[in-house]
Amino acid sequence: MTSQPQASTVQPLLQPVRLGALELPNGIVMAPMTRARAQNADLAPSDLTATATYYAQRAGAGLIVTEGTWVSKDAIGYINVPGIYTDAQTAGWTEVTEAVHEAGGRIVSQLGHVGAVSHPDHLGGRLPAGPSAVNPGEKSFTPTGPKDTLTPRAFTAAEIAGTIAAYRHAAENARRAGFDGLEIHAQGSHLIPQFLNPRLNQRTDAYGGTSEKRAQFLLDVLDAVSDVWGSDRVGVKLSPYWSVGAFTADEETLADYDQLLKKLGGSNLAYLHLLGSPGTLEERIAVFSRYRAHYQGNIVANLGFTQELGNEILHHQIVDAVSFGAPFIANPDLVERFTHGYPLAEGNRDTYYAGHTEGYTDYPAFSAN
Ligand SMILES: Cc1cc2nc3c(=O)[nH]c(=O)nc-3n(C[C@H](O)[C@H](O)[C@H](O)COP(=O)(O)O)c2cc1C
Repeated sequence: MTSQPQASTVQPLLQPVRLGALELPNGIVMAPMTRARAQNADLAPSDLTATATYYAQRAGAGLIVTEGTWVSKDAIGYINVPGIYTDAQTAGWTEVTEAVHEAGGRIVSQLGHVGAVSHPDHLGGRLPAGPSAVNPGEKSFTPTGPKDTLTPRAFTAAEIAGTIAAYRHAAENARRAGFDGLEIHAQGSHLIPQFLNPRLNQRTDAYGGTSEKRAQFLLDVLDAVSDVWGSDRVGVKLSPYWSVGAFTADEETLADYDQLLKKLGGSNLAYLHLLGSPGTLEERIAVFSRYRAHYQGNIVANLGFTQELGNEILHHQIVDAVSFGAPFIANPDLVERFTHGYPLAEGNRDTYYAGHTEGYTDYPAFSAN
């Protein structure tokens, strides 16, 4: 590994990059982070415009991806997380995009749905639905604490069509709210990876049975939202190496992702936001080289990157930008800190997913005094 570039040399992370129709002044993306501050009955971004302040403070990022937001009432899987399916929510997000643009930033909305990982406590007592009636074996964070997931109902064909329509409607709201684009949340144990997963998707219709058919739901969602936005303002976040509960990455599932990446190469997307697996620079290069072999469009690399690892992987020209999640929580001025070699602050994990402004908008920019 080479040594950390000095502040006086141009770091690859600080170079402008174009992701589809999105022009970024630097290659440092703020990864989507649920902060659970929507403590209001509307599930609008937050009271007191705290959310607008939070994102505007981080507008130095080349691109901000919002926290995952619900595309419908049925999509809900955690408490106090905002949606983008009502007018009140869209009005709240408009405040956010205006504040970020005013501060000189760019922001895309992350659209999510948890499917089978929801719980009747989120859904007025109704059983959640997933690709098939298979319990994902996860926890759902309900108003009365974490609870085990249940065996869901299998989506009917009409519900699949309705869910794709909900993504389209949310995409329209995101346009009305003034976002610069969209990111589809297809990471972890969310609904889209449930469809991609051979253990959870045992359908025998157009949406299951083969790797290609398991990918159809994602492709249909992408068609619907690209219709609204143009595909060059749409990104997708995927986590092929995710290994929690029913999501055990193995050679079969990784080979499915290879095929999916190849297929997505024809979609003219702004970017794929890809989680690697933690490891050394060499291990990261191996994982992202595998992605690159199958996908020639723009790749935003994520998971446990430091400034040094980010500069190195860009230097090797395997990916196009790097995203940082946790480091943005306590370092609103992360790009400035990387630029000047300022030290990084440590975030308080107790306030990652709870509270009001504490641990949210009260982390200061670096000051030498
Ligand atoms: C507090 C917190 C909330 C997160 N919420 C989301 C989310 O809503 N959507 C998503 O795709 N990833 C979410 N993530 C994952 C991050 O986007 C990112 O993939 C992860 O933190 C790894 O990047 P890092 O090592 O730079 O933090 C969250 C991570 C954290 C720390």
